Amino acid sequence: MNAPQDTRALLRWYLEAGVDETIGEVPVDRTAAPATPAATPPEAPGAAPREVLAERPQAPPPSAPPPPLSSPPPPPSPPGADEAVRSAVALAAAARDLDDLRTALAGFDGCALKKTAMNLVFGDGNPGARIVLIGEAPGADEDRQGLPFVGVSGQLLDRMLASIGLDRSQVFISNTVFWRPPGNRTPTPGEVATCQPFVERMVELIDPEILVAMGGAAAKTLLARNEGIGRLRGRWYTYSTAKMPRPVQATAIFHPAYLLRSPGQKRTAWLDLLAIKAKLAELAP
Ligand code: URA
Repeated sequence: MNAPQDTRALLRWYLEAGVDETIGEVPVDRTAAPATPAATPPEAPGAAPREVLAERPQAPPPSAPPPPLSSPPPPPSPPGADEAVRSAVALAAAARDLDDLRTALAGFDGCALKKTAMNLVFGDGNPGARIVLIGEAPGADEDRQGLPFVGVSGQLLDRMLASIGLDRSQVFISNTVFWRPPGNRTPTPGEVATCQPFVERMVELIDPEILVAMGGAAAKTLLARNEGIGRLRGRWYTYSTAKMPRPVQATAIFHPAYLLRSPGQKRTAWLDLLAIKAKLAELAP
């Protein structure tokens, strides 16, 4: 794998697999066994797991295509995950407004995604909005700019909002996690759990009339349901937390990124948007 065209092919393959950021100068193969396990001293009970830095295995010969990507199982919850959730609950509860909440999140180290992300992606829009929209997780563009939905799916989201007479000055937009998962992988349940107290506090502080989950992941998290987005969309639910003055009307719509891949579903999305517009009119003071 020395010829420039081979290197280009490998880089292209990485890009297609979602690996589009360099986060270290030295490659780390986390799947390799330690070279000399017998020489490794035993870990003290409760000690943080050691990182195994191993030599990268030989690259395949130039003619061999890169191995197919099978999705790895999600990493297990790191030690201290419960403690991280407890700390998130306490920090979020203490926030009196969105600025406090953003500051609390910026200082929170309990979500591992923070380590690999460039920026915190807190949210965007009007803190007094009647409608809050929650997506899954920031992508590369969002990570670079520190704002949610600024890439191609964000552009579609803006058009979707415009189709029912809304823009970002009338809504608030955020995600189920506040940092980009590396390579745009799905956030793990543990990562979602450590961010959830902040999402809940965000909704409490904004106190909107309508909460919209965008895509299956956000719908499952916010609505605490197991069905897929195809079943969850097009219906109304109530969303409430202990501190909310009243339950919020909640619904789910297809994620804009899914609509970009499946334009045939845009008609259904349009019906869902019209239902949101009608609900806003119905709830208008
Ligand atoms: N997709 C999401 O779910 N959120 C973003 O912020 C961008 C893309």
